[in-house]
Amino acid sequence: MVIDQELELEKILEKYTGKKGALIPVLQEVQELYGYLPEEAMKRVANSLKISFSQVFGVATFYAQFHLKPRGRHVIRVCSGTACHVRGSDKIIGEVEEQLGIKSGETTEDLRFTIEPVACLGACGLAPVMMIDEDSYGRLTRNKVKGILDKYE
Ligand code: FES
Repeated sequence: MVIDQELELEKILEKYTGKKGALIPVLQEVQELYGYLPEEAMKRVANSLKISFSQVFGVATFYAQFHLKPRGRHVIRVCSGTACHVRGSDKIIGEVEEQLGIKSGETTEDLRFTIEPVACLGACGLAPVMMIDEDSYGRLTRNKVKGILDKYE
């Protein structure tokens, strides 16, 4: 662990020592610190809250907001909801996966992108749709994908 992060982690743990119902807020802060929940940090959380590692791990895996692996600087969500599926979202997902050399749910080794599966982005009229971070791209075609990905460093 990097020294600054180590100190920050100590501060977070101290702040919640002996507090009830602290597990979720602690995990949120720890995740903010690292971008995900490293196993070592979850062990420290368990120690500090005097609960078992499996309790911490159970909560971390139960809630979708928590990530157990490092995530990319940019999160790509390609919609696979019905409207998008009908309009060829499979091809868009395939193209993104091919361009990045990873599968949906995975992160590129350089931590540039994570692809996250999503059911409906609520913009069905623009199907097929993908979001990168907060930007949405509608009426996508396969050949637009590379140009869009290139905008993100
Ligand atoms: S189904 Fe894709 S945005 Fe709704």
